[in-house]
Order: sequence, then C-alpha cells, then structure tokens
Amino acid sequence: MSKQYQVAVMVGSLRKQSYNRKLAHALAELAPPSLSLRIAEIGEAPFYNDELEAAPPSAWLALRDAVGQADAALFLTPEYNRSVPAVLKNAVDVLSRPYGKSVLTGKPAAVISASPGALGAFGANHHLRQSLMCLGVATMASPEAYISGVAGLFDEHDKLNNASTRDFLTAFMLSFERWIQANAKA
Ligand code: FNR
Repeated sequence: MSKQYQVAVMVGSLRKQSYNRKLAHALAELAPPSLSLRIAEIGEAPFYNDELEAAPPSAWLALRDAVGQADAALFLTPEYNRSVPAVLKNAVDVLSRPYGKSVLTGKPAAVISASPGALGAFGANHHLRQSLMCLGVATMASPEAYISGVAGLFDEHDKLNNASTRDFLTAFMLSFERWIQANAKA
C-alpha cells in the first residue's frame, strides 16, 4: 500500500452523544485505507492565555503534539449561535501559537459541519474557515460539507444509516485523500 497518512480529527462538541463525534467515528470507517483518523481531544485544553506560554499547560502541549505529528487535520464542527463553539475556537487558538510556529500552518485540512437543523451549521463552517485561512492552513475548498438533519442519520447503534450521506461522505474523504496527497509535507 502507498503511504498511510495520519489525520488528527478535532470535534467541536464535548457531549458524549455528540452527533459530530458520531460522524467522526463514521468517517474513520468510510475513509480510504490510506487515511488513518484519530481524534485529538480538545476538551481539556485551558482557555488560551499567552501568559501561560512560559510554562504551557500539559493539555496544550499534548494537543499541539497530536496535531503537529499528524499529516493532516479534519475539523467536525457543530454551530453555536451561528458560529464555532468556544471549545473548538479555543483549540484553534492554542494550536495557532507560539506566534509563527503554529503546527497548523501549511497543513492540509478539511471542515465538515453538522446540525440537527436545516442549514448544516453553515455559519460555523465558514467562521472556522476564516480562522484557518489566517493561519495559512491548506483547507480544502471543495467539496463543502454541511450536514443538515444530522439527528436522523444514525441507527440505534450510532451507525450512519443514511445511504446518500454515506455516499457523500465517502466521496468527500476520497477528495480529502487527494488533497492530502497533493499538500502534505514530505
Ligand atoms: C445550538 N444549536 C444550534 N444549531 C444550529 O444549527 N445553529 C445554531 O446557531 C445553534 N446554536 C446553538 C447554541 C447552543 C449554545 C447550543 C447548545 C446549541 C443546536 C446544535 O446544533 C445541537 O445542539 C447539536 O446537537 C450540537 O452538536 P453535537 O453536540 O450533537 O455535535
């Protein structure tokens, strides 16, 4: 098999029953074999405060390490009040520093947003893209992924049971595979 790429997955929800987390697990199964997805947990990272950089909290270092060692990053975001949940914005802030040394810069990435509502968390998706752009993250522009009605897509075992969503996400991950192959650092 050709090179396997490590993908750090960040989920912008702390809920155990998070639909975005369920999607992350589904994506690990749908992804092509060349992509290995692993969730980089963001919930323990203290709020960003640059006074702490002299002795960074261990949770910051662990997150920077997990994402820094990965070949690519995949963000799954809910939408809170038409924007990115604070826990995910905080993770991006932590990963953006030290200034000029962000482990995200130049890394291939993709964004998927999901909501039980009709708009598929479009607002959060694009607010997140705005932050990633300023960090020089190589965020895949298309296909875009706004998953609406997410509450109805899983069976009682939390398996993605909607065929068209499975097909869409399978194709999305194939596009992401090509994006990573084209943009990953050697
Ligand atoms: C929400 N929710 C929500 N949904 C949406 O489509 N647009 C929005 O702006 C908001 N705003 C919002 C604010 C807050 C504080 C909460 C708690 C929720 C609903 C949200 O999409 C829903 O709770 C999802 O289930 C959250 O994603 P996870 O946790 O299931 O991944």
